[in-house]
Amino acid sequence: MTQNLADTSRPAAAPIAANAGATRGWWRDAVIYQVYPRSFADSNGDGMGDLPGIRSRLPYLRDLGVDAVWLSPFYASPQADAGYDVADYRAVDPMFGSLLDADALIRDAHQLGLRIIVDLVPNHSSDQHEWFQRALRDGPASPLRDRYHFRPGKGENGELPPNDWESIFGGPAWTRSTDPDGTPGDWYLHLFAPEQPDFNWENAAVADEFRSILRFWLDMGVDGFRIDVAHGLVKAQGLPDIGGSDQLKLLGNDVMPFFDQDGVHEIYRSWRRILDEYPGQRIGVAEAWTPTVQRTANYVRPDELHQAFNFQYLGTYWDAAALREVIDVSLDSMRPVDAPTTWVLSNHDVTRHATRFGNPPGGTQIRTAGDRELGLRRARAATLLMLALPGSAYLYQGEELGLPDVTDLPDEVRQDPSFFRQAGQDGFRDGCRVPIPWSGTEAPYGFGPTAGGPSWLPQPAEWAELSVEAQTGDPTSTLELYRSALAVRRATPALGAGSEVTWLDGPEGTLTFRRDSVEGSFVCTVNTTGEQVLLGAPGRVLLSSAGSVEVNAGEAVLEADSTVWWAV
Ligand code: GLC
Repeated sequence: MTQNLADTSRPAAAPIAANAGATRGWWRDAVIYQVYPRSFADSNGDGMGDLPGIRSRLPYLRDLGVDAVWLSPFYASPQADAGYDVADYRAVDPMFGSLLDADALIRDAHQLGLRIIVDLVPNHSSDQHEWFQRALRDGPASPLRDRYHFRPGKGENGELPPNDWESIFGGPAWTRSTDPDGTPGDWYLHLFAPEQPDFNWENAAVADEFRSILRFWLDMGVDGFRIDVAHGLVKAQGLPDIGGSDQLKLLGNDVMPFFDQDGVHEIYRSWRRILDEYPGQRIGVAEAWTPTVQRTANYVRPDELHQAFNFQYLGTYWDAAALREVIDVSLDSMRPVDAPTTWVLSNHDVTRHATRFGNPPGGTQIRTAGDRELGLRRARAATLLMLALPGSAYLYQGEELGLPDVTDLPDEVRQDPSFFRQAGQDGFRDGCRVPIPWSGTEAPYGFGPTAGGPSWLPQPAEWAELSVEAQTGDPTSTLELYRSALAVRRATPALGAGSEVTWLDGPEGTLTFRRDSVEGSFVCTVNTTGEQVLLGAPGRVLLSSAGSVEVNAGEAVLEADSTVWWAV
C-alpha cells in the first residue's frame, strides 16, 4: 500500500501587530528565511537585486510558509565585501533603494504576517565610513583613531605589522596607513578585508553609536537583528601574538585572542535591555563561530541574545551517528540557558548543502559539483530532519529550489574579496550567491524584469528547470516539498516546539526519534545510508523527502537518503 501525503493547506498568516508575540517567544520555533538582497529580485534591471524587488516577492515568502525574513546588509556601502563593509549604518545604498523602500518593505511584510530581521555589522565598518576617513585625514593625534585599532608598526621604521594576526580573508590582519603628509604611518587592524577596519569596542563612542543604530532600526519597525561576527567585537588585552598557529579556520572555529572573548557578553546584555524596551519581542541573533556549542550557548543566556546559529550542526556531514551526536550536544547545551537551538544548513558564506552532501565529507567550503542527484536527495532529507527538530530553523534563499552551488564560475566574474587575497579559504562564496531563478526560459530567469537582461553573477543554463515557476505545482519538486513541510510544521505543534527528542531504536545508519506535544506525537525517521531500509511503520505518513512511502504489513520501506515524518 502507498500512503498519500497529508493535506497541507495552510492557515493564513495574520498581520503582525505591534504587541504581537507578547506571551510566547515567537522566535523559539520560527522558520526564518535569509534573503541575500543582491541576488533575490532585481526590480530595475541593473542586474543587482534590490529592496523593491524583495518587496514584490514577499507574497511568495508568505506562501512558502516562513515566519520571518532576515535580510543581509543593504546599507550604504562601497561593496568591498558585498555590503558587509558599511559606510553609513542609517542609510540604504542607492543600489538597493532608499529608506522609504525599507519602510515600505517592513510594513508590507508585517501586513503579510512576516517579521523582518536586519543584519547589523558591529565588528568593523567600511574604510569609507566617516569616522575612519576622518581618523586618517586628521593624522595620528586624532581622537577618532581610538575608535579603531591603530598601532605603530614593529621593526626599525615601523615597517612590520604590530602583531602576527592574519585576516580571515588571507594575508596580514593589518594595513599600514599613510599620514596626511604622505609618509607611512600607523597600522590599522582588519580581521577581514583591508576595506573593513575593526572597531575598538573599548571606546565608549563606538558602544553609544551602536545603541543608537539599534534604536534607529527598531523605530523603523524591524523585529530583530542578525549580528555579524558577534564573537569578534572584543579583542584580548594588548592584542597578543598568536604565535605560530595554523591558518585560521573559517570565521574562527579556533580559540583566538580576537574571537569569543568573554567581554563580548556585556555588549549583548546592554543590547538586550534595548530590545526589551520595544513591544513585540524584538530579537538578536548571533553569528558566533565558537569552538563548541557550549560556548555558543553563552550568547543566548536569558539576559543576552535570543538565538545563535548552530554552526556545529551546519558543519556536520550526512551521517546518522554524527548527526545524532550533534543534535544531542546542541539540545543539552541550550537547555541550561533555556534558549532554543537554531538549526541551519546553508547561508551566504558556505557551499550550499545540496552540493556539500553530493561530495565526500570536506567541510563547508567545497569546490566541486560532486554527484548532483545524490546531493539533492540528501539535501531534501536533511531539510526535513532539520525542520523536525525542536527549535528555530534558518533557510537560505534558493535552498527551497534545491539549488546547487555554482562551482564553475569563471574567475573574472567572481567578487568575493577573499578570492582575491592569498588562498583565502572561503574565497569561493560567490557560488552560493548566484541570483535566484524565478521564471522563464532565458537568463536571468525572472530575477530581473527583462529576458536577456543582466545579473551580477551568471546563472547556469540548467536553472530554467529549477525556477519557482517550473517547480510550482509539481508534487515531486523541492519547492513543493518545502511548502508542504512548512505547512505541516505549522499545523503540527510537536514539530519545532519544546526542547526534547526521544530516540528510538533503528537499524544502523538510520535515526528515529519521537516528539511529543499535548496535541499529539510525531515520529521522524531518517535513513542516511545509500540502501533501502525496512522499519516497523511508526504511524501515518505525514511527509516524505523521497515521494510516497511503501508500507506493507506494518513494515515501511525507507528509501536511501530519505526522511519521513509520521503522525502517531
Ligand atoms: C560574516 C558574514 C560574511 C562577511 C564577514 C565579514 O561572517 O556572514 O559574509 O564576509 O562576516 O563581515
